[in-house]
Amino acid sequence: MSNKKLLVLPGDGIGPEVMAEVRRVVDWMGARRAVSFAVQEGLVGGAALDATGSPCPDSTVAAAKEADAVLFGSVGGPKWDKLPFDQRPELGILRLRKELGLFANLRPAVVLDPLVDASSLKPDVVRGLDIMIVRESTGGIYFGEPRGVSVNAAGQRVGVDTEVYSEEEIARVARVAFDLARKRRNKVTSTEKANVMQSGRLWRAVVSEVHAAEFPDVELEHMYADNAAMQLCSRPKQFDVILASNLFGDVLSDLAAALTGSLGMLPSATLGAVQPSGKRHALYEPIHGSAPDIAGKGVANPSAQMLSFAMLLRWSFGLEEEARLIEAAVEKVLAGGLRTADIMQAGMARVGTAVMGEAILRELEKLSAN
Ligand code: IPM
Ligand code: MG
Repeated sequence: MSNKKLLVLPGDGIGPEVMAEVRRVVDWMGARRAVSFAVQEGLVGGAALDATGSPCPDSTVAAAKEADAVLFGSVGGPKWDKLPFDQRPELGILRLRKELGLFANLRPAVVLDPLVDASSLKPDVVRGLDIMIVRESTGGIYFGEPRGVSVNAAGQRVGVDTEVYSEEEIARVARVAFDLARKRRNKVTSTEKANVMQSGRLWRAVVSEVHAAEFPDVELEHMYADNAAMQLCSRPKQFDVILASNLFGDVLSDLAAALTGSLGMLPSATLGAVQPSGKRHALYEPIHGSAPDIAGKGVANPSAQMLSFAMLLRWSFGLEEEARLIEAAVEKVLAGGLRTADIMQAGMARVGTAVMGEAILRELEKLSAN
């Protein structure tokens, strides 16, 4: 019996399709690497709304707390677009982040060599690009109070959201960024709008304090978030780790993902604090979302979901070798010329989700035989 408890939440859109391919890799790990998981599957997003009336039922939250790691697909779709604000499928992921205390969202933007032409930027600008965005993910304007739409004295509707950060919320996510930088190229670019926002002033001050007290060996640079967006498009390779608030991180990570030209390739991890027991809640998901336009057609790229599973093996279970196997298998398949529609290039062979999944499995088999 395995003691590694994995909760799988396929969700909506292409989520279930790409997750099905990962389930084959999970089984393969058990059969060929003696790395087995106790897998439980749960409901989230629109799928959960339809079945239970809630985008994130209590049973899913409980199972996620119980699990050692959560592998998440994607949520949302046109079917649920007209629902009241408090029933959006997106609440599925937001509630999980909040209830599990998943405050550090790690979003790598990596340009793999076989895909350097897929970027809309010139190959020289992005070749070898390897950025890690660390986005705060349980605070800021996503959760701040007051929030809502009300009517003012003049009878006008007024919409309010609140950007609010305590120093501890800033410090703990800054530590994650500095820690990661030490294992990479040792540089953190912290973004905010300290020129306009009070919370941005505090952000800059706290990041500087944490740096001076705990990470003086890491290079720290402060950059206004708008400038960071510009620099990402013009000279992206200057960055190593980018630290950002929930909202700026949401925007900058989509921008960084677009630089790679292949949203279907990018995984992410969202981590909580290490508890006294040593356990750390963690959720892994592809960046691409539910892609309703191609859902159900069998054409989605399963790579980002596969690479999310690789991150899970690395971060939640310390299975570095197995994580690298998956990453290498994905890269081999690309180098061999197979492409799903999202990364199709002239001269390559266009395949669907299942063929891509099968090819990754075959490469895994070959690589692990070596
Ligand atoms: C993301 C998404 C989510 C967010 C949505 C689906 C709530 O855009 O993970 O980046 O805004 O955090
Ligand atoms: Mg987003």
